[in-house]
Amino acid sequence: MIYFYLDGHDFKYDLFQLGKAFFPNKEVVFLENKKEYGDQGCLLESILYEESNKTYAKTNIYLDGCFYTDRIQCIDDIDIGKNGIKNITKIGVKKSIYEGLLSIADKEVPWGILTGIRPVKIVHDLLDRKVTEEKILSVLVKEYKLAPQKAELIINISKRQRKYIYPLNKNRFSLYVSIPFCPSRCIYCSFPSVPVNRYINMIENYREKVIWEIEKIRELMDGKFINTVYIGGGTPTAIPSKDLEKIIQAVYLNFGKDNIKEFTVEAGRPDTIDEEVLSMLNENDIDRISINPQTMNNETLKLIGRNHTKDDIKRAYYLAKEIGFKVINMDLIVGLPSEGKDEIINTLMEIEELNPENLTVHTLAVKRGSKFKETMDKYSVGDQKSIEEMIQETVKFAHKMNLKPYYLYRQKQIMGNFENVGYSKEGMECIYNMAIMEEKETIIGAGMGSVSKIFFPKENRLERIPNFKSIEEYMERTDELIERKRRWIL
Ligand SMILES: C[S@@+](CC[C@H](N)C(=O)[O-])C[C@H]1O[C@@H](n2cnc3c(N)ncnc32)[C@H](O)[C@@H]1O
Ligand code: SF4
Repeated sequence: MIYFYLDGHDFKYDLFQLGKAFFPNKEVVFLENKKEYGDQGCLLESILYEESNKTYAKTNIYLDGCFYTDRIQCIDDIDIGKNGIKNITKIGVKKSIYEGLLSIADKEVPWGILTGIRPVKIVHDLLDRKVTEEKILSVLVKEYKLAPQKAELIINISKRQRKYIYPLNKNRFSLYVSIPFCPSRCIYCSFPSVPVNRYINMIENYREKVIWEIEKIRELMDGKFINTVYIGGGTPTAIPSKDLEKIIQAVYLNFGKDNIKEFTVEAGRPDTIDEEVLSMLNENDIDRISINPQTMNNETLKLIGRNHTKDDIKRAYYLAKEIGFKVINMDLIVGLPSEGKDEIINTLMEIEELNPENLTVHTLAVKRGSKFKETMDKYSVGDQKSIEEMIQETVKFAHKMNLKPYYLYRQKQIMGNFENVGYSKEGMECIYNMAIMEEKETIIGAGMGSVSKIFFPKENRLERIPNFKSIEEYMERTDELIERKRRWIL
């Protein structure tokens, strides 16, 4: 058990994440009163105080009831390349706790004190303020405590993204369309989707609702201009090809084919991909599709509830190439149950043979709402060290395949506090992924479970407007969703 007692501040949320990064399997408890700590476990007492006109964050560490050591950080000495008292105070408190945790843990954490989802945003922010690259590296390593290789990774990613993201424009937007139907439920998944077979009679009505929402969005966005379109899910190719085609054509009719810089359709599951749907997507000039293996090991595919084999993945991939798709993305998950280094190497060797233009490497996140969470005890999953080794293999293979990292994000329940990385061959990056990840552009969502994000560049702020996550509610109350969006679109 790890106990925290806070004195002079209330950065509970951040300190909880930090405690979990060092001790993922221990319970982290915040005490209201220091006396509640007995003589068992570890207590981190975090105090914020002033002395001789300076502010300090101090961490006292107690082990099994006895004082062990302390760590002191002077807040005034912190230099993160920009001002902001609250931000700097929080960084100071986290640094002092980080040093305290380091003194009792037998490991370092590669993301240092960063607990947020989008570390690349910090680099963009500093580059926007004309801070030099050398200084950014020093801020990341010295102040945020990142491992140098993670700091270099996010600096390189942000440099690669900038030509696609800048100059910012409040009138530019991308469109996301959600098709929330899947052939079966994968055990790790928490995305809002419903089984296609059970809802087959609802698909035509759903299609019409989405098309109606797209028309209303066009009216709302009058005077603004479209950048990219992404149809995701769920599994868009799980619905009949003619229905998906009507939705794609509605997008073209409303926003103009020539105005759209990039159009992605997530085909996703190979068991939904055939010649008919691929030809339809190609004839409708879709630029990018995803064909997602997750793993190339048949036993794991069965275990995680995907009704397809590795041969189905290869068949779908070669068919898509034959039909003429220039950019294919493949999603992988590291740390799937029963997988270790041998399994990931096998997956990567198979992927290398296919040679996709994009590869997205996720680390398993055990999410609330997934079947996996409920049945976790039944499966064996890799420990921190083995996940780290597996991720290293993905980095090596990506390099060998000439794929470079171009976007990165972290998730809350991600195993081992790692990250998800999108790789791409030069010039084949997905613009939509960068825009959504860095939160530098308005995204308007249509369909069940989609989320619209209105970007206000002057304030560097986003307003999040979610659509309903239940299909019945979405179908009945679509007009309310348009009104919610209208309030924020100026
Ligand atoms: C929105 S999902 C949809 C993809 C598509 N339906 C499919 O399954 O092929 C996008 C990707 O997120 C990743 N993903 C989903 N749940 C995850 C989890 N719990 N942990 C790690 N990655 C996850 C998978 O790689 C998946 O392909
Ligand atoms: S991972 Fe993809 S196919 Fe599986 S349930 Fe989630 S959205 Fe559906």
